[in-house]
Amino acid sequence: MTTGSATVTLRTDARIGRIHPNLYGHFAEHLGRCIYEGLWVGEDSAIPHLRGIRQDTVCLLRELGAPVIRWPGGCFADDYHWEDGVGPRDQRPRRLNLWWPAEESNHFGTHEFIDVCRQVGAEPYICLNVGSGSPREARDWIEYCNAEGNTTLANRRRAHGHSQPFRVRYFGVGNENWGCGGQFDPVDYAKEYRRYACFLRAVGQDVQLIACGHTTADWNLRFLEAAEGASIDHLSIHRYYGSGPSTGFSEADHYQLIARAHQVESDIDQTAAALRLLRPGSRVGIILDEWGVWHPEARADSGLEQANTMRDAVSAATVLNILNQRADVVTMANIAQTVNVLQCVVQTDGAACWPTPTYHVFRMFRPHMGANAFVADVDGPTVEYAAADGARPSMPAVHASASARADDGAMCVTLANRHLTDDVECRIALPGGTIGEANAIQLAGATADAHNTADAPEAVAPTEAHVERSGNEVRVILAKCSVAAIRLRVG
Ligand code: AHR
Repeated sequence: MTTGSATVTLRTDARIGRIHPNLYGHFAEHLGRCIYEGLWVGEDSAIPHLRGIRQDTVCLLRELGAPVIRWPGGCFADDYHWEDGVGPRDQRPRRLNLWWPAEESNHFGTHEFIDVCRQVGAEPYICLNVGSGSPREARDWIEYCNAEGNTTLANRRRAHGHSQPFRVRYFGVGNENWGCGGQFDPVDYAKEYRRYACFLRAVGQDVQLIACGHTTADWNLRFLEAAEGASIDHLSIHRYYGSGPSTGFSEADHYQLIARAHQVESDIDQTAAALRLLRPGSRVGIILDEWGVWHPEARADSGLEQANTMRDAVSAATVLNILNQRADVVTMANIAQTVNVLQCVVQTDGAACWPTPTYHVFRMFRPHMGANAFVADVDGPTVEYAAADGARPSMPAVHASASARADDGAMCVTLANRHLTDDVECRIALPGGTIGEANAIQLAGATADAHNTADAPEAVAPTEAHVERSGNEVRVILAKCSVAAIRLRVG
């Protein structure tokens, strides 16, 4: 059944800003099967690998153009001691992973992480230990990674096989320090942040320091006030959301999940407002360095694994559209977590490896990376749903964002049809222009809870969609619970 018709008007003159490629970033933690099995299989594995790093995963991430990977956590970061993870692997200590029940072999450490990043083509983003660490440990890690001279730490890195500095630019000063990262209050964290930043800035002039923010305005305001004068390049926030089980969910669960994905809008807007108020005129960026769907099946004792369905892909498209719409203030975002954990883009089972529906969304949105976002107004059907509190709100079925490349003017319009049961006819209008070329890729499943598995790795895969072009308009049918990417050229 087709529900009404939506019009997306491309307002190319209403420019938002350049979409930093890092909005399409990833996050990998020592948790469950993300690092071990997902990225690292070891040098003795029968699974094809390069220096212990599995190549099927690397290949998929390369195809995404994954721009940045955040590591080693998460909660794990605030109890990680980097020296445990360098030097000969058979001499590295085994430790308890305090947060995600497991023993940590430390076989995957700084050099292995940098190797993953280099193989994928991504920039490394290291989250430092504030909770159980010290400014000295953190400044030593930066010196170990980046020093070029004749210092003991630089020479230690060389002795471990890397003569050239790693040139890591992004460093997080702790993770969720209001919670697992030390249970600080914002004023105490600000004092710690100031102390860390003083030494971290001195050891690496080119580093970008990321402070821990929160999705509550109160934390951000109190932190920024108390950290006045401290050097901050980015403020990070996290957002997880869910509603009902990963598969077999109800109609209400579906719409509530999409509505909760929209919390990212208010999270970013309140953080931007706090920055405008307390860092007026500064260029502190907002980083959403953990985000995604967290279903009830994803528990610590099962490595936070969950099915990744078409519904999750539609919610990811909604969040990525929101990030594009806020490209003027957001400098990075990292979906949680790269492989096997939460809303991963890749899943593995032994030697099998396959992309999730969310992976395909990232692939379809790739043309936005580095392009200039502009406003895309949507006028179309809304859908009423049952909210958790018994109210009957409604949401637009179609959600969109758009960008144009600076080099050749090629445009990309990405659309999510969040309607669970109905297709929507969609007209994309370019006032004052003529569309010369148009093509569309669509991602849809047999059901909203369709997902890929080792046995059916392509149950959900993108296909070409039919587009009709006439003058300054194109027309496409958006299948129920689907995502589409339309590429346009002005003719
Ligand atoms: O991604 C799983 C966990 O969620 C991370 O370790 C933590 O930062 C967040 O609470």
